[in-house]
Amino acid sequence: MDSRRLAYLKALDIDVWERRDGSARTSVLPAETLAPVQVRTVQAPPVVALKSALPEDDTGISKLGWEELATAVRSCTKCPLHATRTNGVFGVGNRTARWMIIGEAPGADEDRQGEPFVGRAGQLLNSMLKAIGLAREQVFIANILKSRPPNNRDPKPEEVRACIPYLYRQIELVNPGLILCVGRIAAQTLLDVDTPIGKLRGVVHSIATNRPMVVTYHPAYLLRSPVEKRKSWADLLLAMRTFETLQSGATT
Ligand code: URA
Repeated sequence: MDSRRLAYLKALDIDVWERRDGSARTSVLPAETLAPVQVRTVQAPPVVALKSALPEDDTGISKLGWEELATAVRSCTKCPLHATRTNGVFGVGNRTARWMIIGEAPGADEDRQGEPFVGRAGQLLNSMLKAIGLAREQVFIANILKSRPPNNRDPKPEEVRACIPYLYRQIELVNPGLILCVGRIAAQTLLDVDTPIGKLRGVVHSIATNRPMVVTYHPAYLLRSPVEKRKSWADLLLAMRTFETLQSGATT
C-alpha cells in the first residue's frame, strides 16, 4: 500500500495494521465486502420512464449538450429555490469520468462558490476518493438539487421533480461506469424508495438504464458519526470492486 493511500486511510480513521517489516494492511473488513458482486435492479425509475413523467416544458433537457445544460441550470427558475440561492450549482469534474458522485443539494459553501462539495463534507469526500486512488478532478460530482434549500432543509418532492431531469441528463452525458451515491436523501430519491440507508448499502443497484450504483453514507453524516467511517470504507471497496469487475467484463 503506498504511503499516500495509507495517510488517507488514517485520515478516515480506518485502522491500519502495521507489520514489523513496515508493510501495512487495513483491518478485517465486514463480510459484505468480500461477497461476490451481485448487481440488483431495484425500483429505480429508468430514464425512459422518468422522461415520460416529465411535464411538457422539461422534455428539452434530455437533448441539451454540456454548455446549454450548464446555462440552463444556472439560470433555472423552475422551482422557488431560485429566489433564495446565490448560485445554481451545476456540478464539477471530468465530463468523461468513469465515476460519478451524486449528493443531495448544495449547502451554504456550495451556494456561495457555485461548486458542489466544497465545505467540510467536501473535504472528507475528497479524502474518501483519494483513499481509493481517485482525485477529485478525475470524477464528476453533482447533486440531486442544483439550488440550496434554505437552512439546508430536505428537498421537497416538487423541487426534486423540477430539478432531477438535469441530473439524469448529466448521467447520460458523463456515461459513468459507476455511480457512488452519498447519503440517504440522494439514495432514496434515485431509487424511489423510503428504505433506510443501512439497507441500501452493501449491494449494487442499477439506475438510469442499467448503470451500477453503490450507496454510502453522506460525508456530513460521517463527520457527525465518525464510527460509521468503517462501513463507508467497506462501501468504497464494494464500489471499486464492482467497477473493476464490470469493466473487465467478468460475470459473477
Ligand atoms: N452536501 C451535498 O449533498 N452536496 C453538496 O454539494 C454539499 C453538501
